[in-house]
Amino acid sequence: MRHDRIKPIERGERTDFHACPIDRSAGFSTGRPYADSMSDATAIADRSEVPAGGSHRFTAEDAFGNETEVILVPCEEDPGVRAWVNNCTHEDQRFDTGRGAAIRDGEIICPRHGSMFDACSGECDNGEASGTALPGVEIAVEDDTVLLTDEHYDYLHDGGVNDGDDGPGSTSHVSF
Ligand code: FES
Repeated sequence: MRHDRIKPIERGERTDFHACPIDRSAGFSTGRPYADSMSDATAIADRSEVPAGGSHRFTAEDAFGNETEVILVPCEEDPGVRAWVNNCTHEDQRFDTGRGAAIRDGEIICPRHGSMFDACSGECDNGEASGTALPGVEIAVEDDTVLLTDEHYDYLHDGGVNDGDDGPGSTSHVSF
């Protein structure tokens, strides 16, 4: 069921997000249980801005006031997008440094030592980061809009931490 809206949600706009049974199937919780109490969400990207072979990067503020980079990546499971903190679990290495994360066969590839993380689950079973999983950020997709629904993060802007308000959102079709 699609919800008709009088006007589309603008990027960065906070909106009420009422999870109904159908909408719930479109919501995805990464690492945290689905929040029934979730009452608002922020539009962060159009679904089409998440490329098949790359990522869309944005910056959010966590509960402690720290700016954190997050990447939206494609996933074959509903709702087709996942959000992960843009950092490898092994060392301080970003996946998306401004040109999009490298994604091959549904896995995010760390550019430093090559560990691969499942784009849907965030789990890694190979290389230096084996046995770890990426910290997830809760999102939902309503119509074609990706919404930030994680109560631990507030959307700040597209792009990386240092891109500020003028920074471009990173989008890449980098492939190996
Ligand atoms: S920094 Fe990512 S695998 Fe080592």
